[in-house]
Amino acid sequence: MDEREIRLKTSRRRLFLKAAVGTGIGLSLVSAFYVGASLRPKKEVTPEKEPLKPGDILVFAQGGEQGIPIKPEALKVGDPMVLAYPMDPKTKVVKSGEAKNTILLARYAPETLDPEVAQHAVEGIVAYSAVCTHLGCIISQWLAAKGAALCPCHGGTYDLAHGARVIAGPPPRPIPQLPLKLENGALVAAGEFLGPVGVQAAREAACRLV
Ligand code: FES
Repeated sequence: MDEREIRLKTSRRRLFLKAAVGTGIGLSLVSAFYVGASLRPKKEVTPEKEPLKPGDILVFAQGGEQGIPIKPEALKVGDPMVLAYPMDPKTKVVKSGEAKNTILLARYAPETLDPEVAQHAVEGIVAYSAVCTHLGCIISQWLAAKGAALCPCHGGTYDLAHGARVIAGPPPRPIPQLPLKLENGALVAAGEFLGPVGVQAAREAACRLV
């Protein structure tokens, strides 16, 4: 073997070693990626986090009657609004694990409601999403003088008798109404929210319009 052949053989061996090392590292990276992917925790959707569905029973979200189905007689005209969660009618699971499921209910004299609002109300009782359309706080306060719902974060105020139009503060749009019906004497969701819920949905709606 002359000197030229020896040099050729050596350089081929080096090339082979480089390729082997490179492939090994590549495979290691790929397998590490897949191992990592399989270890990544999956998003958990427990029954409490299921979205509201038509037919869900509305139950009190807080107070001494928490978890009890809401009957019309529990709400009086002029009383403060109440917060509610939907409950699956079959499993009886209260869907309180998802903020977007929070609902507010108030009762008005039926003749004071806008006709479009009244068609989704029961005996003057209206239901809306309780998630503020400004930055997503829960609308939890009641302005008795105005018969309106107040968001404690920045003072967003919604007139529930008139489609939850914004009468004060920064919210960009009304909160969506939830159609109601009566079943076995209790208030039940007759459909889904009549519009996007919360802030994220508002952005999505804006994107769809572009
Ligand atoms: Fe409700 Fe700002 S989050 S007014």
